[in-house]
Amino acid sequence: MKSNYQPWEVNIDDFPEKENFNSQIKFILRYAILAPSTHNTQPWLFKIKEPECEVYYNPKLVLPEADSKTRDLHISMGCCIENLILAAKYFNIFNSIGYGPFSNKEQLAVVHFKKYTGEKNSAYEKMINTIPKRINARGIFYPESVPEDVLNNISFIVKDYLVDEIHINWITEKNKILDLSHLTADGLKIAYHKTSFRKEMSYWMRNSFTKTKEGIPGYALKMPPVLSFILPILVRWYNIGNFLSKKNYSSISSAPLVVVITAENENPSVWLKVGQLAERLFLEFNGYGWQTSIFVAAIEMGRDKEVQKIIGNNKKPQFLFVVGKVDSLHKPTPRHELEEKII
Ligand SMILES: Cc1cc2nc3c(=O)[nH]c(=O)nc-3n(C[C@H](O)[C@H](O)[C@H](O)COP(=O)(O)O)c2cc1C
Repeated sequence: MKSNYQPWEVNIDDFPEKENFNSQIKFILRYAILAPSTHNTQPWLFKIKEPECEVYYNPKLVLPEADSKTRDLHISMGCCIENLILAAKYFNIFNSIGYGPFSNKEQLAVVHFKKYTGEKNSAYEKMINTIPKRINARGIFYPESVPEDVLNNISFIVKDYLVDEIHINWITEKNKILDLSHLTADGLKIAYHKTSFRKEMSYWMRNSFTKTKEGIPGYALKMPPVLSFILPILVRWYNIGNFLSKKNYSSISSAPLVVVITAENENPSVWLKVGQLAERLFLEFNGYGWQTSIFVAAIEMGRDKEVQKIIGNNKKPQFLFVVGKVDSLHKPTPRHELEEKII
């Protein structure tokens, strides 16, 4: 059954207070599906078993070329789980979460809900209202530094997310940002050199007028409309890694802040938590009017050692994004409707 709403048009006032538990859990999931995901694959699946919701990933949406370890898949799932928890906390229906069992690899978590009492937790109002406003903002950033009090407030809020030796590295020194931009540009060149990577990437690229509900439309890559039709073909058949790596270099190097999340261990459980932390950080920054943009090429293309050297931390880099104010914001990327993600 198709819904009559647009995924991004979710509003707290539409919470079905008078409807059954199942409808209320579904309403919360409308926030979960607005999470970012690699290539906008939206790998999440949900099974509602009142009062629980099991969270799975769809194995058909693994990206062997861009994400051979499935790290980014799990980070995307972590972002989705974080939206789910924050929305449920606002409506006071979050009870607890259990992760795994990772033996049945596709099931990643079970969220336990409690009955809605009519009371909302206003401490989460800003977060839940920021979920439909967040986008991965590509482009050139204004040379305006993120104020120290914003960084301090956000650091304080996310301290509970720093479990399993997960660590946040805040990089504001220009020379380090330039070095990380170089590594990202190099990572992209390495990736685009491989025909198999280009084939996979091109499959997920869309023109700017696309009606499909997944993948990255040209407008989100800041491509002119005409080029957005040609880009997937170009990517598929030619190595335009140099061009794309220059664009990425200009974007990262203009950002006033780079955030690198590192961890002692690498496994699905840690990646889910990295994803939860990353999503909370995105929402916090966006809530303060600062945009965020993800760049994982340096990490995914095996430049970990160099990243570690630049950031001065010997733990393994897991995720990288930048923060700043971009010159222009594009409209949100497409989403599948929730009904298509419920099993
Ligand atoms: C784990 C992960 C890795 C990503 N890596 C990159 C990246 O390296 N470069 C990039 O431009 N976008 C990257 N993205 C952003 C996605 O393309 C973006 O989230 C997706 O297209 C959906 O768009 P939205 O975030 O604006 O909703 C990544 C997202 C996630 C969750």
